[in-house]
Amino acid sequence: MSTVYLNGEFIPKDEAKISVDDRGFLFADGVYEVTPFYEGVPFYLDRHLARLRRGLSWMRIDYDTEGLPDIHRRLLELNELEDADTAMVYLQITRGVAPRSHPFPRDPVPPTVYAFAKTWQRPSQEDWDRGFAAVTMPDRRWTRVDIKTIALLPNVLAYQAAVDAGATDAIQVRDGVALEGAHNNLFGVLDGTVVTHPVTNVILPGITRSVVLELARRNGIPAEERPILVEELADAEELFFTGTTNEVRPTVRVDGRPVADGKVGPVTRALAAAFAREVRKVKEAAVGVSAR
Ligand SMILES: Cc1ncc(COP(=O)(O)O)c(C=O)c1O
Repeated sequence: MSTVYLNGEFIPKDEAKISVDDRGFLFADGVYEVTPFYEGVPFYLDRHLARLRRGLSWMRIDYDTEGLPDIHRRLLELNELEDADTAMVYLQITRGVAPRSHPFPRDPVPPTVYAFAKTWQRPSQEDWDRGFAAVTMPDRRWTRVDIKTIALLPNVLAYQAAVDAGATDAIQVRDGVALEGAHNNLFGVLDGTVVTHPVTNVILPGITRSVVLELARRNGIPAEERPILVEELADAEELFFTGTTNEVRPTVRVDGRPVADGKVGPVTRALAAAFAREVRKVKEAAVGVSAR
C-alpha cells in the first residue's frame, strides 16, 4: 500500500478521503505539478515549483509552497523510491472544500493539497530506436493552457484519440500551427534548426522543453522558438516530444506518413544523449552535496 500526502498528513492511500464538495472534484478548480526524480534526486524541482507558484497566483489560490521540497522528499522515502532509476511526485492543489457555487468561497477555505509518488518507465531502447507515431488533431483546449490546471478533458480525449489511432502522441493544431502534444512539447528539426513554439498562452511551458532548449544551445545546435506550421511537418527532418516522463521521445510517423526517412534522426539522438548527461550531472551534484 503506497503512502500519500493529504492536507498535512502522510497516510496509507486507502485512508485518503476527499470531500464531494471539493472544488477540484466539482469544477476542476485546481493546479498540479509533476516532478521527476532520478535515484531519489529531484530534477529541476525549482523550475517545477516556480511554474506551480505562477499557476497558484494566477488562480488566486493562497498556498505557501515553502514546505513542498520536504514533502516531495518524504514521499519518496516513505514509498522506498529513493533508489528508483525513474520516479515522480504528482502534486495537486485545489481551491478547497465549499458547497457548490461558482464564485470563490466567500469565507476563505484552506486549499486541498494531495501528492503521491510512483515510478515511471522509459520505453525499451529498442522501442526508442524504432521511434514513435503521432497524429494531428484540432486543439480543443482553452486559451490559458500555460496554466497547469487539472482541467485536462481535452488532453485526455486527444490522447485517447491517438491511442485509438494506434499512435503514441497527439499533436495539437490551432490556427494552422502544430503547438504541442497532449502532455508534452513538440520540437521539429527544420532546415537544420531545432524549432519549438515560443512560450505563450497556447502551450504549457514544459520544464523538459526549457532544459532541452538550453542543451541544444550549449551543444552548438541551432535552436529557435517560433510557431511550426502544420504544413511544415511534412518537410521536417526530425520531430520529437519532450516531457517529464517522456524525456526526449522521437516521432518517426505523423498521420501515417514517415517523417523524412522514417528513422530517428541525429539531432534527436544528440539531444537525448545530452539530456541523459544532464540527468547524470544533476545526480552527481546531489551526491556531492550530501557527501560534504
Ligand atoms: C500540455 C503539456 N505540454 C507539455 C508538457 C511537458 O511539461 P514538462 O516537461 O514540464 O513535463 C506537459 C506536461 O504535463 C503538458 O501537460
